[in-house]
Amino acid sequence: MAITGASGVIYGVRLLEVLKELGGHEVYLIVTKSALKILHHELDMSLKELEELCDKLYSEDLLEAPVASGSFLVDAMVVIPCSMKTLAAIANCYSSNLVARAAEVTLKERRRLIVVPRETPLTAAHIRNMLRVTVMGGVVLPACPAFYHKPKSVREIVDFVVGKVLDLLNIRHNIFKRWE
Ligand SMILES: Cc1cc2nc3c(=O)[nH]c(=O)nc-3n(C[C@H](O)[C@H](O)[C@H](O)COP(=O)(O)O)c2cc1C
Repeated sequence: MAITGASGVIYGVRLLEVLKELGGHEVYLIVTKSALKILHHELDMSLKELEELCDKLYSEDLLEAPVASGSFLVDAMVVIPCSMKTLAAIANCYSSNLVARAAEVTLKERRRLIVVPRETPLTAAHIRNMLRVTVMGGVVLPACPAFYHKPKSVREIVDFVVGKVLDLLNIRHNIFKRWE
């Protein structure tokens, strides 16, 4: 998992919480420097608190981390939230930090990559980059909650997006009410 410097770091934090609650998942987390600032601003959270929610925490500069190599086996990678800067890096394989390198590895090894962009409105470059990631086999899952489950709280709105990510990871959950 990677948390980058887009608004909505709560999506990443909530995904970490749910994976921990569900149990049985080993989570390697990369947090960018920009994400750290937003984490503090939006959630008043520190890196230490994030560390407790994952198995291993890496800085974006640690290009020698295991997840930088395709020989290290992981099931999937989720970039949540994904800034337009990181989206551009992934879309163009410009792997100057660990987030972009791990995503590049995920794509080249044909593993599941999910990016959760958070930006509005979009430029043609943003849209082109989303198409590039899609063409390479990644899944673009915009932080775009639905309202047919009649959410009563911010948590329920956030959980809709997080639940969609879990669905794509084939992880069973009950964090939102499905349309029946
Ligand atoms: C308060 C704040 C909110 C931001 N929100 C977004 C956002 O929603 N989407 C985005 O693409 N960039 C956003 N940015 C800009 C990114 O943080 C910036 O482009 C940064 O370089 C991204 O770096 P990273 O992808 O390495 O984390 C925001 C910046 C700040 C300070």
